Amino acid sequence: MRKKIVAGNWKMNLTYDEGQKLTSEIVNMYKDESIKDVIAVLNPPFPHLLPVKKLIGDTSGILLGAQNCSDKESGAFTGEVSAKILASFGASYVILGHSERREYFKESNDLLTAKVKQALANGLTPIFCCGESLEIRMAGTHEANVKFQLTESLFDLSPEDFSKVVIAYEPIWAIGTGKTATADQAQEMHLALRRHIASKYGKDIANATSILYGGSANPGNAKELFSKPDVDGGLIGGASLKSRDFIEIIKSF
Ligand code: PGA
Repeated sequence: MRKKIVAGNWKMNLTYDEGQKLTSEIVNMYKDESIKDVIAVLNPPFPHLLPVKKLIGDTSGILLGAQNCSDKESGAFTGEVSAKILASFGASYVILGHSERREYFKESNDLLTAKVKQALANGLTPIFCCGESLEIRMAGTHEANVKFQLTESLFDLSPEDFSKVVIAYEPIWAIGTGKTATADQAQEMHLALRRHIASKYGKDIANATSILYGGSANPGNAKELFSKPDVDGGLIGGASLKSRDFIEIIKSF
């Protein structure tokens, strides 16, 4: 059985007080509404990690993640945060290769390999993002493009390491735009990715890999998306900033 995961990516939003309020609400709803079998991951900006961790406490099923980490282990890299530091503050997950990082911070597939290795070496689960732009989708080369991102960044990993990675497919044209890929478009790509993983690591590892959908998932469309056989959860941006919406998405499984 694959893990079902709904990860909230707060991006560069929320002050300390706002983050505390959102986290308390999510933790309370998650407990009160007896959510089971779906892992919720909260990925706030770095300064929130410790206070959010404290609010999560020992709530089973809710875990902490970060939105990025350095490709280096430690040292004189002003402004960077290592996977080792994140782990020491109680993070379990780290989002890597989000399309915003690829686009605005020019993160390459090679750089992401180094980040994934740092994450794994420090016991963090990478949520590795891949996805295509609107131009690539229009050109019809989206499958090849997204498979290439996986091949370049991840396919040097040992089977043991690869099996610790979570994949997030983000059609970039559907991020923060209010557009969503249809559930069928999501399923088609998730299946293509799973087959690609199977071609390298075999069916067992491919079938055990959680592949999340990222791109304007919301309480209105999550049920249909999550009903697809190869969609194992979501990476949620905007809707993760509203406790009720985030919980409703989780409950859409
Ligand atoms: P969105 O972001 O839900 O706001 O579209 C999703 C993402 O960035 O993965």
